[in-house]
Amino acid sequence: TSAAQAAPDADNPLVVAHRGASAYAPENTLAAVDKADDMGFAWVENDVQRTKDGRLVVLHDATLARTTNVEEIYPGRAPWNVRDFTAAEIARLDAGSWFSSRYAGARVPTLQQYMRRVSRNHQKLVLEIKNPQLYPGIERQTLKVLSNEGWLSPWHLRKRLVIQSFSADTVRKVHQLRPAVKTGFLGAPAIADLPEYATFADQINSSYTTISQAYVSTIHAFEGPHGKPLEILTWTVNDAANARRVARYGVDGIITNKPDVIKRATQG
Ligand code: G3P
Ligand code: CA
Repeated sequence: TSAAQAAPDADNPLVVAHRGASAYAPENTLAAVDKADDMGFAWVENDVQRTKDGRLVVLHDATLARTTNVEEIYPGRAPWNVRDFTAAEIARLDAGSWFSSRYAGARVPTLQQYMRRVSRNHQKLVLEIKNPQLYPGIERQTLKVLSNEGWLSPWHLRKRLVIQSFSADTVRKVHQLRPAVKTGFLGAPAIADLPEYATFADQINSSYTTISQAYVSTIHAFEGPHGKPLEILTWTVNDAANARRVARYGVDGIITNKPDVIKRATQG
């Protein structure tokens, strides 16, 4: 029914598995997506960047050094920036062993591979466009991949997808290119600036270290670009005490490496 469609997700606050269930599986890999799914969490967060040959891949850092064996495989190519390696070169890297030998052989997924896994698992995605200043046009390109994978259909847009960035220009661009997409700005703008942000961002997603009850209430008093109250997801909360505190403030969601811990703390 339309009433059922309009109902908010039952989880309150929403628990979002940060880079997948990244306390338990290597971040931003398909294994971390599956781990969140196995644990019963629909919402995952990821980070998107671009390779030398123009493919979108899912990785947090601007370099491959921390989360892959790139230094061993390509020793002469410091500082191992994502944008200096082709997709084929990146596909050879092990993105799991640094985390645990159990995950040896996990790969850096392309955005396409990642979307297919999230789709297969019937999961939902907070997609972060990372370091957009390094990747001109990444907003349009990300939307193209999402569109090819069927993720810009009305149902997906209503229920399943948020695109966020620390760059206000990027969030604004996504909103202008595809106004129906739900967007999030990562940061904590001054209250005086919120009217401007509310023209292009549905969510203001702030670090849990910066937010207060007053800030959360103020966010909720603004109306976003789709005529609904602005929302706030907070990150990255990995302990029960802070989860309970931000839940008391009334945040709409908590982005966490430990979704099980946060769900237990906030939803009993
Ligand atoms: O989704 C919020 C959070 O991911 C932002 O920080 O550095 O983990 O991408 P970071
Ligand atoms: Ca992120």
